[in-house]
Order: sequence, then C-alpha cells, then structure tokens
Amino acid sequence: MPVDSYAVRGLEKSFSGVRVLHGVDFEISPGRVHGLFGHNGAGKSTLLRIMAGACGYDSGELILNGRAVVLNSPRDALSSQIACVYQELRLISQLSVTQNVFLGRELSVHGIRMEREMRAHTARLLEEHDLPILPDALVRDLSHPQRQMIEIIINLDRNARYLFLDEPTTALEVRRAEELLAGVRRIAVEKQIGVAVVTHKVSEILDHCDDATVLTGGVVVYRASTPRIDKNEVVDAIVGKKLEEARIPHTPFSASAESNPRLVVKNLRTKGLRGVNLKVYPGEILGLYGLVGSGRSRFCRTLYGMEKITAGDVLFDGVSCHASSPSDAIKRGVAYLTEERKKDGFIPQMSVLKNVVLPMLSRFRRFFLLDDREADTYARSVLSRFGTQGQLSGPIQSLSGGNQQKALFGRIIAQNAELVLLDEPTKGVDIGAKQDIYEVIRGMARDGKCVVVVSTEEEELLQIADRIAVFNNGACPEETLQAGNLTVEQLRMRALSDGGARPGSSPEIWK
Ligand SMILES: Nc1ncnc2c1ncn2[C@@H]1O[C@H](COP(=O)(O)OP(=O)(O)OP(=O)(O)O)[C@@H](O)[C@H]1O
Ligand SMILES: [Mg+2]
Repeated sequence: MPVDSYAVRGLEKSFSGVRVLHGVDFEISPGRVHGLFGHNGAGKSTLLRIMAGACGYDSGELILNGRAVVLNSPRDALSSQIACVYQELRLISQLSVTQNVFLGRELSVHGIRMEREMRAHTARLLEEHDLPILPDALVRDLSHPQRQMIEIIINLDRNARYLFLDEPTTALEVRRAEELLAGVRRIAVEKQIGVAVVTHKVSEILDHCDDATVLTGGVVVYRASTPRIDKNEVVDAIVGKKLEEARIPHTPFSASAESNPRLVVKNLRTKGLRGVNLKVYPGEILGLYGLVGSGRSRFCRTLYGMEKITAGDVLFDGVSCHASSPSDAIKRGVAYLTEERKKDGFIPQMSVLKNVVLPMLSRFRRFFLLDDREADTYARSVLSRFGTQGQLSGPIQSLSGGNQQKALFGRIIAQNAELVLLDEPTKGVDIGAKQDIYEVIRGMARDGKCVVVVSTEEEELLQIADRIAVFNNGACPEETLQAGNLTVEQLRMRALSDGGARPGSSPEIWK
C-alpha cells in the first residue's frame, strides 16, 4: 500500500444485527478519483460515513498515510483533512452563502468579524467555480443543485486532502454534472486531493475515474484501475445481471386524433412562470424538459397548490383545477413526487410502510381505528414492485437514499391519483430498479392516468416520455417534441433556443 493514502481494511458493520458491510477494503490516494458504485442499499453511504468519522463500525481498520487512525466525529476527520459531502446536504438554509462558507471558522481580528474579507473570499470561490450566485444570497433561496455545488466547494475550500462525495450529481443536469466532475478531477490532480465519488450515473463518471469499486450487498465484487475499467463490467456488477436483458423497449404512445386532453394548461402565470401552455392526453406520458431554472418544478408545485396562480387557467377533465394547497390538490386527485424528499417528502421517524400509505390512511380505517395489518400488507405489495430493500417496518430515515426514493414513489402509486406529477422520479435509484420504475409509470399511463414527468436526465426522458414540452425561462409553448426519434442533442438545442436562459443567468426563477 502506498504510504500516502487513506484506506479501510476488513471493515465490518451491522445495524440492529443485520450486517451491511462484510470485510470491505477500499482506498483513495492523492491525485486520484475513485468511483464507488452499487445498488440501492449496497452500503456505499455507510462506508463513506465510516471513513469520514460520522458512523462507528464493528471491526476493521482505518489507515491514514500508513498509520491506523480512530475518528470519533466528522470534526475529528476534518482535522485529519478528511471531509464528506452527503446525499442530504448539511448547509444551514437560513444563513447566507458566506456565513455557510465560514461556519465555525469566521475570520476576525481582536474579536471583530472581518465581514468584507469573508465576503470577498466567498465571491472569489464562487467565481472560480463559475457559480453565478451572490455571497450574500441566503441558502434557502438557492435551488437544490446550487446548494449541492456550494457544499462541495465549501469542503474543497476547507483544505480537505481526502474528499468523499455521496451522489454529488444526482439533481444536476448532465452537462453540469460533467462540468462538476471534470472540475473535481482537475482539483484532485492540481491540489493532490484523493476523491471518492458515489453515483448511480456510471457513464458520466467513468471518464473521470482512475479507480472503480462496486459493492453488492456490502461485499466488494469488482475492483479495477485505469486503463482496465470496463463500463459494461461495472454495470453488470451493479445490476447482478446483463442490463440489456432487463431493459424494456419503449414505443412512444400517440393519442388518437379524437381523444380529448385530460389536462389543459392555458397561459399559466405565477410569480416565476411567464406563460405555460400544454395539454396531456389520456394514456400518454408528457415529459418536461428545460435547463435548471426554466420553471419545470415550479410548474409542478403550482399544480400541487404550493404556488399561487396569478393568471391563466388549468383545466382537468374540463373542470377548472386551481388547488389552493397540497391537501386541496390531493382531494382533487393530484399526486406530486417532489424532487426534495427530505424537505417536503416524508416523516423521518415514521415507518416506511406508514409513510407509503400516509396520504390515504382513511382508506384503512375501520370504525375510526386504523387497520394496521391491511395498511402494511398493501404498502408491502406496492414496494415489492421495484425491489425496495431494508427494514420496512423501521423508520424511513434508516433506509438508504435510493430506497427512500422508492418508498416515496410507492406512496404515489398508493395514492392512485388521476393527475400524477413526478419530479425526478428516479433520483438516486440504481440502474436496475430504474427500469422497474419506468414500467410502473407506463402502467399508470396505460390505466388512463395523466402523467407528467420532469427529469434532468435526457436519456431518461427519451426512454419514458411520449411527448416532451420544453420550458424556457419560465415559459412553455404548446408545441411539443415527439419522443420517438428525438436525440439528446436535439432536445438540448431546443432548451437553449428561443433565448432560453443558460443555467444561472436568471437566478430569480431557479427551478
Ligand atoms: N442508521 C441506520 N439504521 C439502520 N439501518 C441502516 C442505517 N443506515 C443504513 N442502514 C441500512 O444499511 C444498508 C446500506 O445502506 P447505505 O445507505 O449504505 O446504502 P447505499 O449503498 O448508500 O444505497 P443508496 O444507493 O440507496 O444510497 C441499507 O440496508 C440501510 O437500510
Ligand atoms: Mg447512499
């Protein structure tokens, strides 16, 4: 083992008697990027948390630069120049970007805070990473992708020598993700930082990796270094079978000329939307595409009663449908899978099964009492459709990130709504289970539901949508693209045309 490295040897870890890491060896070295892959619940985040001092372990060793170390906390780790950016971000949303950058290490002279210097440092940092954000901007006003970028650059700024990134690109557009990973790689080489990156988007990262490891059920099943890393081998190791066999071909659906649209949106305006026009016909899946900030998520939030409509109309089955709140939207038969599961997704302490049936508990009440068994059996049957792994009767917060996402998707199915809005439905979901989720979404459309899908992954939209509406700068014209023969490039071209905002050029309408 090279002396200059950070490694674990023979790591074992169990939660409540269930072993999730089985004698794992893993290593990162300065100047190299190590891709860590595996299915949902494989143990990737647990491994990273242990290496970053955030989680204990049962046996094995952490070896920093040739010597065994004990890390009792993330602070301990940071003092050894080890840092981790988690799937769920740690930024304090009420504080400004500058305050977050300097949290716990404010610059001061004789007790007086050097506000100007801290702001100037933050401005340089933002500029260096090409982020059009003001140092005084409050984190809560930033979009999720922006926050993700901020958290990464904060850790780079804290002189981390060993940096772990847990799904840093999940909510980023493909190009932004590529830029970010290229940036991480450049910094790794220039500043001699050892980086480990967890992601489910294998293609986007492999070009930037020097080493690759795949975990399956807490066991290392694949390990290779450049030039011997083979994408197909990595994917097969993650899925446990050939992905081609698992993939279901998609033939776009075309509504018949006589059918009436179920959803009609006419010149819809809100604080951030400048005229959205679209129609969704029974049986079809409408994809929404656009750059970050183009208004896709804002549109979904508006239909779900989270933002006020200032002009225009929304008609569902011919009836005006202006929900005043999410509970009003649910009553009107609207379901919304949010892109930020922690913020407005679930109740962390509640069991996975109860979280699934939460919006429709009344369905399982018998004489004012909840029929627990019936509710749980139903929730289990929903979750089994896309292999949700983990302790389903335990709190949802103990599930791995991707399995939490599957549980929330399960809730959407359970809700059995007529208008289904899915914002990044496979965020953090492994490549095997993605196909199962696509199939369930297609099933909803076949059942006549009105399905709208937002995804930053062009490949995903092309695989699942029948037609694609493109948002630009808060507006969406009624003309759509047929998904059938469309290419990723054509889709991107459309998003950039019509004076479409480049990411960050109009911060007031971030997604
Ligand atoms: N605090 C906890 N309590 C109980 N079980 C846990 C806890 N944290 C993780 N687990 C379990 O450990 C296993 C591994 O989870 P981990 O989060 O490491 O998976 P992952 O590979 O990161 O998955 P994903 O791709 O979905 O993020 C899962 O079965 C999960 O339910
Ligand atoms: Mg994880």
